[in-house]
Amino acid sequence: MSIDEIFSEISSHMIQGMMTHEQLMNCYEFLGLHGYAACHKYHYLSETNGYIHFCNYVINHFDKLIQNERVTDPEIIPATWLTAVREDTDPSTRKQAMVAALDEWIEWERGTVELYSNCYNDLIQNKKIAAAEFVKSYLLDAEEELTFAKNEKIKKSAMDFDIVSIIEEQDAWHKLYSKKAKKLNK
Ligand SMILES: [Fe+2]
Repeated sequence: MSIDEIFSEISSHMIQGMMTHEQLMNCYEFLGLHGYAACHKYHYLSETNGYIHFCNYVINHFDKLIQNERVTDPEIIPATWLTAVREDTDPSTRKQAMVAALDEWIEWERGTVELYSNCYNDLIQNKKIAAAEFVKSYLLDAEEELTFAKNEKIKKSAMDFDIVSIIEEQDAWHKLYSKKAKKLNK
């Protein structure tokens, strides 16, 4: 890949990543799981900051704008939900949705780690070492997020997605991620 193509791939992926977290946030809010919604709101805001920082880096270090070519809607929210109301979500729908949402998150971050690894490697091949190191910081963040999401899936699967304990932990998640979100702009 050329340098322009690498930056375009990363930038388009970042925009889709923001869309993914925004849709997961709304999905959890719809399910009444405000703590998980706060978690994805935090990642949405954090990755938006990361995207702005990335664009600034490319403009200032490579003197050009990024051309985004392949941004598509990640379509996390099932089409049937768009005509439903919150009261329609029975326990089995809620459980299915929680499993699906965690799987979507894991798959997304797995793809992110793979893409950033390839881009890091391509930048090294192109002898753009500083830019490679810059991309590496995003790669490490994505890998940490992937590990967290996978561990969450293992924990929730171990208790068969028990809704009582999931509801009980929402306040703590909300508090933690609201605090983290506030720190982003300091
Ligand atoms: Fe993410």
